[in-house]
Amino acid sequence: MTDLYAQARQILRDNDKGGYTLPTHGLYPYQWNWDSAFAAWGFTTFDPDRGWTELETLMTGQWEDGMVPHIIFHQPDPGYFPGPDVWQGRGPIPSSGISQPPVAATFMAKMLTMHPAGEARARAIWPKLKDWHRWFMDWRLDQGAVCVTHPWEAGRDNAPDWDAAMAEINADDVGDYTRRDTSHVDPAMRPTKYDYDRYIKLVQIGVSVNWDQEKLLAVNPFRVADPTMTFTLLRANRDLLAMGRRFGEDVSDIEDWIKTLEAGADTLWNPQIGGYDSRDVRSGAFNGILSNASALCWYAGINDARALPAIERMLAACTYGLPSYDPAADGFEPLRYWRGPSWPIMNYLVGSGMEEQGIDAAAARIRADTARLMEENGFAEYYDPHTGAPAGGGTFTWTAAVWLGWAGHDTEDKRGAA
Ligand code: GLC
Repeated sequence: MTDLYAQARQILRDNDKGGYTLPTHGLYPYQWNWDSAFAAWGFTTFDPDRGWTELETLMTGQWEDGMVPHIIFHQPDPGYFPGPDVWQGRGPIPSSGISQPPVAATFMAKMLTMHPAGEARARAIWPKLKDWHRWFMDWRLDQGAVCVTHPWEAGRDNAPDWDAAMAEINADDVGDYTRRDTSHVDPAMRPTKYDYDRYIKLVQIGVSVNWDQEKLLAVNPFRVADPTMTFTLLRANRDLLAMGRRFGEDVSDIEDWIKTLEAGADTLWNPQIGGYDSRDVRSGAFNGILSNASALCWYAGINDARALPAIERMLAACTYGLPSYDPAADGFEPLRYWRGPSWPIMNYLVGSGMEEQGIDAAAARIRADTARLMEENGFAEYYDPHTGAPAGGGTFTWTAAVWLGWAGHDTEDKRGAA
């Protein structure tokens, strides 16, 4: 048997740019926010020192207002669009102007358990994470649920959740540009031009107000309350709170944030689909989308029995769960990015949350499926949930991290299990 642990470690090493890790060479040549948190955790399974460095480098991109950007452009790379000249971020390092799901605090808590000697480094990172979480609480809430101001902020770039809000955006004047993603990967696996025009238009709108959040509220036509952000921030605050207590920090505001977000999560429950849904803040309407983000409630510490049947139905419809979009929906596309494929990183967040909450059968199924995807088809970005075919980019950092930290543990190949 090939040693998948050795392969996974090698991927992290190969994607290591010295202090930060690329998601994969070519397609994603910079530091991505939540990818980096996964990378930090993956490294901690065999090189904890390098794991802590990853988080520290991520926080060097933090803006004065607390925001931690979704991409940090440490070194120019002409192979990527939209780059620093388009985003015009105003942080200490060239960056994008939006954030990404805040999973870093949760991974930091895990790293601290795996490597208690890293405590001094965790203590130094903690206040920065708190500033970042506060930024979400200040600028992204709607009725306690966390909103995204750009589809890429949720990390589920072209999920069907955004379609209704995107349809309201006029991108006629977006101008000419050349995409780079479709020269690295088959266009059939990537978002369409219609979507891409709107992604770029939203960036132009952010630039037009110099990413001033107050002004952005008034001019940005896109605002969607999202289960990914709401559940990851809720979970991250629980972990931040526990670490803060241990470090002797003042945590009273974090306790309030947790209550607010719990109430906010409730506003995402859509009885019509029997699941947690995204909500278009401008129109007030639910989007009616059952996705893998709908299944993040357990990860957020909300053990909601109402949510299980729909997730079990999605699992039963696939050979390699969990799909990113309901296979019974009209727009389901098994190979297109966030409109169907199975994503190991989401499988990990959902599966580990279910394990914690005692949803054993579904958790075991998701973990075993995730391991099989990698055993059969290597460390791809995502996979067809029916056939397991690998798709998107290859030798992917966070997929390798999920093997090292979780998916590999129950398999025969336990040689490198932490
Ligand atoms: C895509 C994904 C996003 C991820 C990035 C780098 O944009 O949708 O979640 O962070 O790639 O892997």
